[in-house]
Amino acid sequence: MFYIAPSLLAADFADLKNEIKRMEEAGANYLHLDIMDGHFVPNISYGAGLISSIRKHTQLIFDVHLMISDPLKYVDSFIKAGADIITFHYECSDRPMEIMNEIKSKHIPCGIAISPKTPAEAVIPFIGVADMILVMTVEPGFGGQSLIHECLDKVRILRREALARGIDLNIEVDGGINGDNAIHCTEAGANILVAGSSLFKSKKPKTIVHQMRLAAKEHPFLG
Ligand code: DX5
Ligand code: ZN
Repeated sequence: MFYIAPSLLAADFADLKNEIKRMEEAGANYLHLDIMDGHFVPNISYGAGLISSIRKHTQLIFDVHLMISDPLKYVDSFIKAGADIITFHYECSDRPMEIMNEIKSKHIPCGIAISPKTPAEAVIPFIGVADMILVMTVEPGFGGQSLIHECLDKVRILRREALARGIDLNIEVDGGINGDNAIHCTEAGANILVAGSSLFKSKKPKTIVHQMRLAAKEHPFLG
């Protein structure tokens, strides 16, 4: 399956209810929620309180991306707030597999993210364990950056590896994605596209969603 995940970070925070509605009407599947702690990344976003406030206004799947140093400390509060999938960063700990097992023991789907400098090989042991692998296509911390094309090579490696094992792996890409470069992402083998600025800053997000869906039709999971 192919999913489009608008990143709320680029929304107008004074008008969240309508901003979310706009994304639903545009045809989004997920709502990507970036949690930044000012420690793991040099920026602070929002927390579980905001997630629980918007939870009652939408059925979109809440895709929570934890860019924080100590995910286990906060995971329960994000589950309580209404997260549907929780992704933490490989780089936040020396024992990422333990964190993954701990989160999964709470019966919530769990993803693992890699920043641009982390090689794909680091998360190969998570294929078949993680519900999703998130390949960052910008340095985490800020919206509105340009996609680093070399990161898509990692998507290729992971898709190939998953296909070789017969595993239908969810691979998400995040950062600098728009209607034009979506095709490069799907060609590499991504099936979940996060897009902040390109969707929220557009007056016609539906057109971009359409472009992204065409990109997925052209390259359905070939890796
Ligand atoms: C970056 C975040 C992204 C970001 C994407 O640290 O993880 O989800 O909001 O925003 P754009 O699409 O504007 O790069
Ligand atoms: Zn993100």
